Amino acid sequence: MAVEGSLAEGEASIVRDILGRPLNALRISVTDRCNFRCQYCMPREVFGPDFEFMARNLLLTFEEIDRVVASLLPLGLSKVRLTGGEPLMRKQLGNLISALAKHDLDLALTTNGALLAKQAQTLADAGLKRITISLDALDKNTFHIMNDVKVDPQVVLNGISASEKAGLPIKINAVIRRGINEHSILELARYFHGTPHILRFIEFMDVGQTNGWNIEEVVTAAEILEILSTEFEVEAIDPIEKGEVAKRYRYKDGGGEIGIVTSVSMPFCGDCNRARLTADGRLFTCLFSADGFDTRRLIRGESSEEEIGSAISNIWRQRDDRYSEIRTEDTTLRPKVEMSTIGG
Ligand code: GTP
Ligand code: 5AD
Ligand code: SF4
Ligand code: SF4
Repeated sequence: MAVEGSLAEGEASIVRDILGRPLNALRISVTDRCNFRCQYCMPREVFGPDFEFMARNLLLTFEEIDRVVASLLPLGLSKVRLTGGEPLMRKQLGNLISALAKHDLDLALTTNGALLAKQAQTLADAGLKRITISLDALDKNTFHIMNDVKVDPQVVLNGISASEKAGLPIKINAVIRRGINEHSILELARYFHGTPHILRFIEFMDVGQTNGWNIEEVVTAAEILEILSTEFEVEAIDPIEKGEVAKRYRYKDGGGEIGIVTSVSMPFCGDCNRARLTADGRLFTCLFSADGFDTRRLIRGESSEEEIGSAISNIWRQRDDRYSEIRTEDTTLRPKVEMSTIGG
């Protein structure tokens, strides 16, 4: 019988960090490679033909990823998001999804959409529950400037249609940079208004060390709302759950939901419940960390799931990250893992 003040059944092993935040979500990067070269993530000057990506033998196998996930379930893990680089470049990704879908998890994926038209049905059939597709502009010119790739935005729109057909709930992510794609705010809003897809605008973040981030280029949530208000009436709505990265809004005319990821102007570290696993098995406790904990060593050293879980619990218990809340001009110059390595 539960005694008042004691932990409910099943809650006993939930791990919390120094600031009391649980480990609810794991973002898993399945490759550090990408077929885009978004300037805000993988500038071509750095990620050119000579850039050394992770050697294939260093990548966690699907079985190894599944073991890390299984080891975190008793600690309270309830959400997994597959990322990259570009996750659809990892061969046979459906097999990983099928394995992970056996667990009781919210299973999602973030993609640039270029390879999605062909894969959406396979991903849905394998057990993917929802999908987020990046789309920074609808016009070819701006799309090419943002993403530095000769892909027509129509290809991404085809990926979105294929995901709709496959029955996947869809979110659309648009990073906004001042002087480059502010006009996309209204164009994308018009395009997705009246659809069930949730369009989210993302403040340009100082992730990694190569994207030349400059605060002048950040279009803040307040500015985005101002621009939207020239054509649409929106109102804030309550978060569905603790730890969400996007502030939620809805069109007053019933045209659906939109969101803004406000990591720069209104940081959300207070409820941050996300860990990140790189494709080569390093576990990071913050998007802006320099180093991660090597889980591959444990897995290939044949540690049991309990031992892996217990090592990760120990790391999580010591966590006090809140980078976005303490961001200054100096912190932006700190060594930080690249976005394409850690998956956003
Ligand atoms: P759901 O809320 O589960 O739908 O997904 P998500 O919004 O967490 O995932 P998505 O990959 O779409 O990320 C949206 C944006 O939020 C990306 O730019 C991420 O880099 C950013 N983001 C996600 N998690 C964090 C975080 O913990 N800290 C910061 N600063 N940014 C984050
Ligand atoms: N700032 C904000 N968002 C970024 N993303 C990649 N780099 C940045 C950045 N510097 C976004 C991608 C994708 C998500 C995972 O992160 O566009 O939608
Ligand atoms: Fe690739 Fe996504 Fe980075 Fe763009 S933001 S380069 S699509 S990993
Ligand atoms: Fe979490 Fe770090 Fe992002 Fe803050 S900056 S929300 S601690 S990942």
